[in-house]
Amino acid sequence: MDANQYQDPVELLSAKGGSSVVPLRWQGGNLYLLDQRLLPYEEVWLQYSRPEQVACAITDLVVRGAPAIGITAALGMVLAAMCLKEEKEDLLRDKWLGHAERMISARPTAVNLAWAVKRMKRAFDVFMEESSTSGLSGLVKRLEREAMSIWLEDVRANLTMGEHGQALFPEEGGVLTHCNAGALATGGYGTALGVIRAAIANGKKIHVVADETRPWLQGARLTAYELAKDHIPVTLTVDSASGLLMRKGMIRAVIVGADRIAANGDVANKIGTYNVAELARANGIPFFVAAPTSTLDLDTPGGDEIPIEERPPEEITTIAGKIFTVPEARVYNPVFDITPNNLISAIITEKGVLTPPYGPAISACMS
Ligand code: MRU
Repeated sequence: MDANQYQDPVELLSAKGGSSVVPLRWQGGNLYLLDQRLLPYEEVWLQYSRPEQVACAITDLVVRGAPAIGITAALGMVLAAMCLKEEKEDLLRDKWLGHAERMISARPTAVNLAWAVKRMKRAFDVFMEESSTSGLSGLVKRLEREAMSIWLEDVRANLTMGEHGQALFPEEGGVLTHCNAGALATGGYGTALGVIRAAIANGKKIHVVADETRPWLQGARLTAYELAKDHIPVTLTVDSASGLLMRKGMIRAVIVGADRIAANGDVANKIGTYNVAELARANGIPFFVAAPTSTLDLDTPGGDEIPIEERPPEEITTIAGKIFTVPEARVYNPVFDITPNNLISAIITEKGVLTPPYGPAISACMS
């Protein structure tokens, strides 16, 4: 069956032999999230029935990765509708929109979050205008349909990006990825890891190199975990080893995901991405970004305008709860950086592969 014929994201993933990991479940009117803070040591599913709990889960990194938090927020807005009580339409709207604002502010950099909540708001408004008679249960059904479409479209986009992107890879050799832009960061399959999965499925002899991604260790904990689950060999390095590996010829391409891509093609992604991009350029290695069009932000002209999230110092000063620095040390913990567009060889989207100059390529792709 063609990918477009599946209406359920999880069915689509299993039919297409996607990834064995999916970071969320929607069951019986509850949201379940695989707690990514505990991976790879423990696989614990947490249950959510209230939108404010979902917003906290996003802030606390129970779920992370730009597309995954967008889908989670959309399902959180379904929970927000399920918690509404019959009352005047204005009050109902204010309550629901209050949850939407809280949801959007859960994390500032990944634009997929605001994008998904805006889509839910549109569905809410259209429902209110058109079908005031079918009441709250009708509203919940309409929003559930919208959230599931967001999830389904994300999986479809990942599978399509995989096909577009894998053609850019060499037939064999090391491919470096930073952070986790895999199944755990999306509705399943992944953006950067999706391209890697597709390349391997197409017979390319790719060896994945994952850097550990200090301080939260998305590479060491999450990328290594999900690739191991799918029996894809992975070599783990410290972040600062990338230059050496590139000079030794062990890396033939770099691929990362994105949290937001500005209208000029500047990319916000996990802190350290910019370093890798500069090293790739210095060593003549192609640097690819894979992201669905929901990550493209035409309202943000360039990277300097993208808000960069800062997180608590403990993420840097502790490992497994143990402090390993002195209390006098000040800490600065920005968790994303900006890779300027001139360092990017191509941006792989579900609508095609974009190449420089990115301004016109992005506006054509979005028009
Ligand atoms: O802080 P995180 O773990 O949410 O950061 C995630 C990333 O930087 C990913 O590379 C990005 O969201 C793309 S995920 C497909």
